[in-house]
Amino acid sequence: MNAQVNSVLSFDQVNAYYGNAHILHNFSLSISEGESLALIGRNGVGKTTFVNALLGQARVRSGQITVAGKTRSLWRPYQPAKEGVMVVPQGRRIIANLTVEENLLLGNAVHRKGPWNVERIYQLFPILRERAHTPGAALSGGQQQMLAIGRALMGNPRLMILDEPTEGLAPVIVDQLGDIIRQVNEQGTTILLIEQNLHLVARVSRRYLAVEKGSVIAEGEVDPGRIEQLQQFVVV
Ligand SMILES: Nc1ncnc2c1ncn2[C@@H]1O[C@H](COP(=O)(O)OP(=O)(O)OP(=O)(O)O)[C@@H](O)[C@H]1O
Ligand SMILES: [Mg+2]
Repeated sequence: MNAQVNSVLSFDQVNAYYGNAHILHNFSLSISEGESLALIGRNGVGKTTFVNALLGQARVRSGQITVAGKTRSLWRPYQPAKEGVMVVPQGRRIIANLTVEENLLLGNAVHRKGPWNVERIYQLFPILRERAHTPGAALSGGQQQMLAIGRALMGNPRLMILDEPTEGLAPVIVDQLGDIIRQVNEQGTTILLIEQNLHLVARVSRRYLAVEKGSVIAEGEVDPGRIEQLQQFVVV
């Protein structure tokens, strides 16, 4: 057997489009079980398009996407979740008029079995228990992000992809979320963190991939003591 065996997600030379706009160019990456990986890059380089290609929301015209050992050129929006890849989307996408608890329950619409349930999410984020019956719209930005992470964990993912989770949040909340994400990784969930906040990358990720103009252009180990070396790849 080979290294592919424990790959949770891989993109092999993927070209993805919105209409005729060619956004991802021979985009390749592979994430192994247990890893904590960061995907970094400036605004507009194609980070969210990578997520959209995975979810069948950007058109993949060539290349292959393999999730948990299954290869398809087109994945439908719910299929990665069934295979254990859950996305915490950019902008959080909390359902405003559902309560916190109802939003959490949506996270396991695919009925994957595993250790996560509402009680465990409340242990991870006690504030969500306090606000269990509050509409999503009434939460602060940080609480909404916690809810978005909780909702993804409810799907018992092997891999959780977080798309710029700290956008617009205060530094103290960013640190709190970083500790939680690291804890979730240590408990066995593979993490792909899409970020421009290098402070968070240093706290959470052990390896990075840098994206520019729709391609992965660099990769390496994250050295928390020399994180400024990665600044060239993000907005300063
Ligand atoms: N639905 C869409 N239709 C057409 N073009 C789009 C669409 N969404 C994004 N784009 C374009 O695709 C390119 C990549 O955008 P994408 O959202 O993937 O960037 P990003 O790296 O996630 O940026 P950010 O850090 O700002 O979230 C940009 O030029 C953007 O304008
Ligand atoms: Mg984005």
